[in-house]
Amino acid sequence: MKIIQVNNQEEGGKQAFNLIKQGMETGAKVLGLATGSTPITLYKEMVQSDLDFSEMVAVNLDEYVGLAGDNEQSYRYFMNHQLFNHKPFKASYVPDGTEEDAEKECARYDQIIEENPIDIQILGIGTNGHIGFNEPGTPFDSLTRKVGLTPSTIEANKRFFASVEDVPTEAYSMGIGSILKAKEIILIAYGENKAEAIYNMIEKEMSEDCPASALQQHDNVTVIVDQAASAKL
Ligand code: GLP
Repeated sequence: MKIIQVNNQEEGGKQAFNLIKQGMETGAKVLGLATGSTPITLYKEMVQSDLDFSEMVAVNLDEYVGLAGDNEQSYRYFMNHQLFNHKPFKASYVPDGTEEDAEKECARYDQIIEENPIDIQILGIGTNGHIGFNEPGTPFDSLTRKVGLTPSTIEANKRFFASVEDVPTEAYSMGIGSILKAKEIILIAYGENKAEAIYNMIEKEMSEDCPASALQQHDNVTVIVDQAASAKL
């Protein structure tokens, strides 16, 4: 894994943006995108840039089960407002949180991933090492499925909701197997609450206890971290 240390989130956003720009210059057509607070500065860079994304496809990692795209807490809403409304893509995919038939929705999403092989996958990381919503214990060959969120993830994500009771307890998430198929992966982490997860991902033996450690088996991973997130390395 290549590690880039940055001074702050603005610099991290610029570094990630440059990698995407380079990727697009050499033919990348499909971006795997992530939500959470981490990629916000990257999306800002993309919006402010003069890059044209109208021939690009975006495939997002996950969505809360039960939330429609017009719900302000949904990941579809987040993506539209952070990026797609400002920079139109040829197509943008996010799992449909309102689809009650999980089997149907997961099969539909896996088909989308298969038809749009991801060139560059952007990832954040949960404090427990999750990527997408693949919580500890997720098999590394997993595909899209409906997952239950751990208490620590619900706790971490409650800041976006009016109360902890409002945080959905389930999500649809792209699997680790699909994430690993991306040609290039850029994982971004800021802040001391990510330090343990970053340490487990990079320095500990690969284990399902830390989903992000699966990236050790990928040969094109760049990790963008600030000082606090890399403190334990
Ligand atoms: C959520 C998302 C992840 C994200 C993580 C970290 O659980 N499903 O994709 O990486 O949160 O979020 P943040 O970037 O806000 O710390």
